[in-house]
Amino acid sequence: MNETIQTILGHRSIRKFKERPLSNEEINTIIEAASRASTSSFMMAYSIIGIDDASVKSKLAKISGQSYVEHNGHLFVFCADLNKVGLLASPEEKQQINENVENTEHFLVATIDAALAAQNACLAAEGIGLGVCYIGSIRNDIKTVDQLLGLPDHVIPLFGLAVGEPDHDPQPKPRLPKEAFYFKNKYIESASLQKEIEHFDQGVNDYYKKRSENKRMDQWSTQMIRKLSTPIRTDVTPFVQSKGLNKK
Ligand SMILES: Cc1cc2nc3c(=O)[nH]c(=O)nc-3n(C[C@H](O)[C@H](O)[C@H](O)COP(=O)(O)O)c2cc1C
Repeated sequence: MNETIQTILGHRSIRKFKERPLSNEEINTIIEAASRASTSSFMMAYSIIGIDDASVKSKLAKISGQSYVEHNGHLFVFCADLNKVGLLASPEEKQQINENVENTEHFLVATIDAALAAQNACLAAEGIGLGVCYIGSIRNDIKTVDQLLGLPDHVIPLFGLAVGEPDHDPQPKPRLPKEAFYFKNKYIESASLQKEIEHFDQGVNDYYKKRSENKRMDQWSTQMIRKLSTPIRTDVTPFVQSKGLNKK
């Protein structure tokens, strides 16, 4: 199998890193790979903040409640960024641009651009033998993260990415079978999808029972129901709108 596919198929999130800081060369490889991702209409509507200030890392770790946000080789924060696109516009042009960048379409453009860049960064990191973990839990207090990183209007923090030399070797987590996410020409019938999910649940249960760390009894669908039955991060919508994004 070719090396790129091997890297992709070998992915598992790493949550324990050796303390070795990434070299500048490693960081540059990762961010250059990020920048090569496809980008909607050439907008490159994202920014990446590299965090090597121990006190900022420690604050982000407190917000996320996860030690590997502090202890890793390097921490990146990926932001949706619609600030740059209007920076050289005249005041009249800026007014018109703002009308447009504040809609849901451009919010999607910026979040998709950031996610594609981040996934390229992950693959580059994993391709050079490093491990990665996305950190969505920085959104536990998105406003404080925003202030900590000094983000202007039309820029919001989306997620962190902890990268470093793996210090554990977790098994890959199962994925939905292709029958449950790849459909030909039309969305699948609900009854067939339910069957696929029931079958997947059994596999997930086995995975949680047998894995080397943090064994438990759990299933995918019960996990999703549990997760989505409680409101979470209800401050994100007003925060995003207060930054001038996803307003209309
Ligand atoms: C946008 C995003 C945010 C995530 N946030 C967190 C996080 O805050 N903490 C964490 O431990 N893992 C986080 N993850 C990792 C997922 O939990 C992980 O990818 C998923 O459980 C599948 O496991 P795997 O990556 O090992 O295959 C995040 C993943 C994504 C894509």
